[in-house]
Amino acid sequence: TRVMRSRGLRLLTMLMIPFSLCSARLERGDITRVEADAIVNAANSGLLGGGGVDGAIHRAGGHAIYNECKAIVDKHGPLPPGRAVITSGGRLLARHVIHTVGPVWRGGGAGEAETLASAYRESLRVAEQYGCATVAFPSISTGAFGYPREKAARVVWDCISDYVKHHALPAEIGLVFFAPVDLAIFEKQIEGARLV
Ligand code: APR
Repeated sequence: TRVMRSRGLRLLTMLMIPFSLCSARLERGDITRVEADAIVNAANSGLLGGGGVDGAIHRAGGHAIYNECKAIVDKHGPLPPGRAVITSGGRLLARHVIHTVGPVWRGGGAGEAETLASAYRESLRVAEQYGCATVAFPSISTGAFGYPREKAARVVWDCISDYVKHHALPAEIGLVFFAPVDLAIFEKQIEGARLV
């Protein structure tokens, strides 16, 4: 899939990422409706589903995703925060789901920023390894895990911009926000970054 499509989502902004061939799409809506080579799941270490975007992905994707996740955990144990694994997309429009675990926010002094960057970076690395040209991310850790949205925005933008400078894939990265206010916060935080 060279160009990402999404059903029922609103494409709000398309950004060229400096010093790379990659573009970023900022969208609002439900990530389970994105048609891409991969969508990323904000999972927990048990990988067997939960609430939020994790629950939505498992509900929409069906049992195939659950079974593949269970096989991964049975074989390798729980997935540590900051790491990523890949399964099929089951019934989703996306070909793959990349499951990653973000940090639980504990005030900022427990390596949360590095773990959040690692979750995005490892997801991009797995995507590239599987030849994914288009990848969509939810706003990892900013729901149940309590990471402040303003702080997450800078970490995520820096991490993605840095990754795509040194890698040919993915060619298009979607950042999908569930609530309008989340997108507004993200855009405000990266305003400065966009100009450099
Ligand atoms: N599409 C896109 N974004 C969504 C969707 C959806 N269908 N549903 C929720 N979101 C948004 C939330 O509004 C939030 O901004 O995803 C962001 C991340 O929130 P969570 O899903 O709560 O993820 P996270 O904060 O990383 O917490 C992970 O939640 O349900 C559990 O199993 C999951 O234990 C893990 C924890």
